[in-house]
Amino acid sequence: MNDLTNKKILFIICGGISAYKSLETIRLFRKNNAEIKTIITKNAKEFVTPLSIASLSQGKVYEDLFSVENETEMDHISLSRWADVIIVAPATANTITKLSKGLSEDLASTVLLASNKQIFLAPAMNFRMWEHPSTQDNLKILKGYGYKTIGPDVGDMACGEYGEGKMSSPLHIYNQIYGFLSNQTKNKKIKALVTAGPTNEYIDPVRFISNKSSGKQGYEIAKSLHKRGFETTLISGPTNLNISENINLIKVETAEDMFRAIQDHLPTDIAIFAAAVADYKVDKKQKDKIKKKENFMINFEKNIDILNYISNHNSMRPKLVIGFAAETTNLDKNATDKLINKNCDWIIANDVSKKESGFDSDYNEVTIYYKNNHLNKEKLLLKKKSEISEEIVDRIIAQIH
Ligand code: PMT
Repeated sequence: MNDLTNKKILFIICGGISAYKSLETIRLFRKNNAEIKTIITKNAKEFVTPLSIASLSQGKVYEDLFSVENETEMDHISLSRWADVIIVAPATANTITKLSKGLSEDLASTVLLASNKQIFLAPAMNFRMWEHPSTQDNLKILKGYGYKTIGPDVGDMACGEYGEGKMSSPLHIYNQIYGFLSNQTKNKKIKALVTAGPTNEYIDPVRFISNKSSGKQGYEIAKSLHKRGFETTLISGPTNLNISENINLIKVETAEDMFRAIQDHLPTDIAIFAAAVADYKVDKKQKDKIKKKENFMINFEKNIDILNYISNHNSMRPKLVIGFAAETTNLDKNATDKLINKNCDWIIANDVSKKESGFDSDYNEVTIYYKNNHLNKEKLLLKKKSEISEEIVDRIIAQIH
């Protein structure tokens, strides 16, 4: 079995018949040297006892949000920061619903809401509850927030019915978490660089041309890479977004600034170009503010194509170069041309003529075009940019390990 020495796992046990399986899951993690703390909800205590969890986990079991003892020893925020990963098992329909609404009425939901770590849910419920549109809608919301699910499995249920809704086996949960944590450790040695947002190209000191990029897609990719352990640098054009201080954020304005900042951060192992870099800049930026006149001409000249340069003309070409393509027509042809001409390993194309996705939306729908991959191309259907980013990073990890 794979060792988890020095890894910190926070278990949250909710009230369902499968809570007994969590004991076995905790035993497995402990056997492999993980350090464990547990939160048990009020309902879970109907199924398992704090004493049995404490003796199996050899770690502290927390119960109440407002406990003087807990708050002085480790408050709910520190508890969420302490963990490398949080596992909610069993994750009941009630818990999933509460989390999707952002409720924080007990210790478990408060810690989850305050968490900045990867949260895994191991759902367990009757198959009709699992299939219910409200459960599925709530799960969709949680996935958009970055939660991951393990299971549920199909099988005989405690209630005597058969279907999808059984909590996954302790071994399966262990293997999923082990895979995540061991990739995270490996990724710490890998550098990733992401570009995001628009560039501003100045006409005079106070006026510029730009585009509608909000930076959301690039920022979400940087967040996903960081969560998976990569040493992440984000080079961003002007946006209104914030990001964790553990990501190396470099703010730039023009395409030339962005190009210089990227060069300063080479070599890197992976480079993802999600920025909407202006293709043109004003040939002669006016030193002073242009006075009002009837009309005047602006001449544009081509900006450097950063992606093309880094990928085609640079001795420090990253091992994996991923470009984006923003298209309004001929997605297939234009994306394939960019894949070849810009010498990318992948091009991620989005149709930016749609209102519900692309520029300045929380959602995106993309097609990934691969250069040397039997899949050739792969479509990721409309979902939150955070989820699209997770799926892109899943594929990056599969390619590089
Ligand atoms: O920022 P959001 O609001 O979240 O929107 C996301 C997005 C639509 C901007 C993003 O998903 C996206 O498509 N980014 C690339 C936009 C773009 O400039 O596409 P392009 O087809 O014009 O360029 C192709 C590739 O070359 C891109 O990787 C681009 O970063 C790069 N490029 C382009 C021009 C240039 N001068 N230098 C470049 O490096």
